[in-house]
Amino acid sequence: MSNSTVPQHIGIIMDGNGRWAKKRGLPRNFGHKQGAAVFKKTINWARELGVKCVTFYAFSTENWKRPAEEVNGIMNLLRQYIKDIRAAAREDIRFIFLGDITALPPDITEELMDIQNSTVDNTGFIAGVALNYGGRDEIVRAARLLAQKAVDGEIIPAGITEDAMDKLMYTAQMPPLDLVIRPSGEQRLSNFLIWQAAYAEFVFMDVLWPDFTKKHLEQAIDEYIGRDRRFGGV
Ligand code: IPE
Ligand code: IPE
Ligand code: MG
Repeated sequence: MSNSTVPQHIGIIMDGNGRWAKKRGLPRNFGHKQGAAVFKKTINWARELGVKCVTFYAFSTENWKRPAEEVNGIMNLLRQYIKDIRAAAREDIRFIFLGDITALPPDITEELMDIQNSTVDNTGFIAGVALNYGGRDEIVRAARLLAQKAVDGEIIPAGITEDAMDKLMYTAQMPPLDLVIRPSGEQRLSNFLIWQAAYAEFVFMDVLWPDFTKKHLEQAIDEYIGRDRRFGGV
């Protein structure tokens, strides 16, 4: 049986910004700027196509390894895009930030917390943005919270269940992850939603993220619809 419906929750690894800029002889941060513009458009495309939730991988726990100039450039872009995020928040979009955003520059942390809190009742669409996010970090964090509950006598070890872990993931308020799209030609998760992707479908595409269009999104969704998801059954 193929899927008859569009995915409810898509994860997108926004990759290929640096190569896009390099191809044009431009500094890497030009690629990030172009990529940020596509991020904004993709929210609208996904919504038009009937998707309920998209989680975007914007900055990983490993991306701090990049040169300070590039990291600062990305943080400055984020400052600029916070204004656009605020405008989107007025269109019934709920924003959820995945990752330890308290480690970002304090002015950004404050804005993001405010956006997350003020959009909590929006139901039109959920936009997840993974910032200083790592899937392993997320699992360790959930394990620690449960260990603390055990130490405090609130649960016994048998109380550590998949469901209990799920509820402590950043995605707890989102529909289950159906599809992961990675542009740029790389075929790996790079620590993105590793818990949630246990039974997700994957679509890898050769396009660089700044060149990603609504056609690519439709193509990935069509591919997903044609897939046979068995979840271990027959
Ligand atoms: C993804 O594009 C954006 C971030 C990781 C912030 P890259 O910067 O990884 O682009 P490539 O992979 O070098 O082309
Ligand atoms: C993954 O891309 C992280 C984001 C897109 C934010 P990377 O470019 O950092 O991943 P690797 O290094 O190719 O695995
Ligand atoms: Mg990359």
